[in-house]
Amino acid sequence: MEITIGYNILDKIKGCLSKLGANRVYTIVDENVYKMHEKKVRELVEGLNNIFYIMPSGENTKSIEHVLRVYDDLIEKRVDRNTVIISIGGGVTGDISGFIASTFKRGLKYIQIPTTLLAQVDSSIGGKVGINYKGYKNIIGSFYFPENTIIDISFLETLDRRQVTSGLGEILKYGLISDYEFFRFVSKSINSIYSCNNEVLLPIIKRAVSIKESIVNQDITDRGHRKILNFGHTIGHSIESFYGFNRYNHGEAVMLGIMYESNIAKYMGLISEEYFMEICEILQKIVMPVQFNDEEIDELLNKMENDKKNQKDGIAFILPVAKGKVDIFNSIEKELIIKSLKGEWIENYRKQ
Ligand SMILES: NC(=O)c1ccc[n+]([C@@H]2O[C@H](COP(=O)([O-])OP(=O)(O)OC[C@H]3O[C@@H](n4cnc5c(N)ncnc54)[C@H](O)[C@@H]3O)[C@@H](O)[C@H]2O)c1
Ligand SMILES: [Zn+2]
Repeated sequence: MEITIGYNILDKIKGCLSKLGANRVYTIVDENVYKMHEKKVRELVEGLNNIFYIMPSGENTKSIEHVLRVYDDLIEKRVDRNTVIISIGGGVTGDISGFIASTFKRGLKYIQIPTTLLAQVDSSIGGKVGINYKGYKNIIGSFYFPENTIIDISFLETLDRRQVTSGLGEILKYGLISDYEFFRFVSKSINSIYSCNNEVLLPIIKRAVSIKESIVNQDITDRGHRKILNFGHTIGHSIESFYGFNRYNHGEAVMLGIMYESNIAKYMGLISEEYFMEICEILQKIVMPVQFNDEEIDELLNKMENDKKNQKDGIAFILPVAKGKVDIFNSIEKELIIKSLKGEWIENYRKQ
């Protein structure tokens, strides 16, 4: 698996395809991306024996129904094992295309071209492919790596601000779990990231990808060390789902999760007050934490208890233990979680 990162680098694709000995190409592309970047997408496959499949945008597409539609099309177009699948889009397109590539005729080679910040730094790295089913996110899937991942940051110019935030949450998380200096650098570069300054974005995306890659490589099938990537996600997921996935996007929810979870770590004496404040100062510029009432906290706890990461009893957390370092905690006292969600710390913080 090879990852190439740069600006306007889609011409690399022809070289990849000839190395793979592809005689045909089946390009699955997100509808919005196709509309916004049609010229670029068409040029990419110019001169190739290519079939386009335009995938509707949005999370609902990551479903078995859409997988079946593509299987039908692959059969109808007589796609064989010398055909390479190219996926162009965000995490939704990448996850479903990878799942299709991994299952059709026991596996077709595929190339990922992620087009959102989240997909470039997170979902296209690590080989997780899959779909949602019966309301459960990513419940059907497998690990299947693309032959090549081509990260072309020129796609990011058409993202709106909140889509950028979604990727930014994960990028800040990478710094907090394994590279404090990187966290500092990203914190100082937030405006440049939103304004899509390539000179700043490129090194940030490169570092983010290398952090995720190195964590994944230590634990491909997500049984141990890879779990540290879930920092901010235990509480983050519960908040995302509490609001029916429409108040906060994933990145915003992760940033909230990071603040509440760091607060727990501070109560436990794992990190200093000063480090906790530093984290909040940066994240609050992007998303404001809220104080939850007792009823809301009950519901949030319920959601956490049903989280897939939990062992038999207790809610599993990834907590910061030093600058740029986290650890896995399999059971955390409920009282501390409640205290953090009640958010007295938010009041105290605002008084300062
Ligand atoms: N496989 C993994 O390891 C992994 C990790 C994290 C998230 N995910 C999955 O990723 C998905 C979320 O990814 P996402 O945030 O990229 O969502 P997405 O694919 O839905 O993209 C978000 C929106 O941006 C649009 N878009 C895509 N590229 C664009 C561009 N260049 N310019 C303008 N608009 C563009 C899309 O049409 C869509 O409307 C979720 O389904 C999540 O489960 C997977
Ligand atoms: Zn995430």
